[in-house]
Amino acid sequence: MKNIFNFKRYWAGKDSKFDTFLMVAAIAPVPIFEHFITRTAASITNSNKEKLSTKIRNEVIRLVSEELDHSHDHRTINKIMSEHGYPIDCINHNIEEYFLSFDDKKCQEKLALVVIMEFKIRQLSEDAPLSPLLFNEGVHFNTVKSFLLEHAKDELGHYNVSIDLYKELNIPRRILLKYLLKFSIGSFIGYIRILNRVLHSQNLGFKDTIYFWLHTTKRMFWGKQAIASSVIKSHIDLIRTVFLWK
Ligand SMILES: [Fe+2]
Ligand SMILES: [Fe+2]
Repeated sequence: MKNIFNFKRYWAGKDSKFDTFLMVAAIAPVPIFEHFITRTAASITNSNKEKLSTKIRNEVIRLVSEELDHSHDHRTINKIMSEHGYPIDCINHNIEEYFLSFDDKKCQEKLALVVIMEFKIRQLSEDAPLSPLLFNEGVHFNTVKSFLLEHAKDELGHYNVSIDLYKELNIPRRILLKYLLKFSIGSFIGYIRILNRVLHSQNLGFKDTIYFWLHTTKRMFWGKQAIASSVIKSHIDLIRTVFLWK
């Protein structure tokens, strides 16, 4: 999707400062995730051509092409967010270092991480249309939200492609479960750190900082659209899928 991005410093929820901080922390690292996904999926598919069906090879080619398009637009969004004073380069430098530490891991471990990331992105994509952070009733529409909704449509299929690739390569399911646990804990801690970095960059006073963490706690744990309940439910679904596959 090609779009001319034009958005204000506070663009999430009802142009809410705090919702924007939560969204900035969630979407700033996406191009780094997508770069890891594309280079891992492409290199594993290339080096296992004979073992894989034509169907899965074509699906991986489509996934890689969609991710490259997404990354291009995410980088444009990140550039504008940097101009609005968010510490995007700093956040992404740390995330890049994290992924570089996977370079010496085995292919099957990297692919497990790709499946988990596509799974997490699919969960966010399923939640996006109803999320109070983005599209709930009465919120103002802007180009970032419209891009995220378009992006979410592509993302719904990526998890299936990555898990089909994983199964065709006969990688043991225990590796996936191990990384699900590791990445879930790591990404929660990482998200809180990124939020903290965003917060420091905005020079909030003591009172606003307290309000922000109360707001975050509410978004995470309160009500039908609480982020935590959706995460727990989707993890149970993934674990069930992994145990039941033949
Ligand atoms: Fe993507
Ligand atoms: Fe994806």
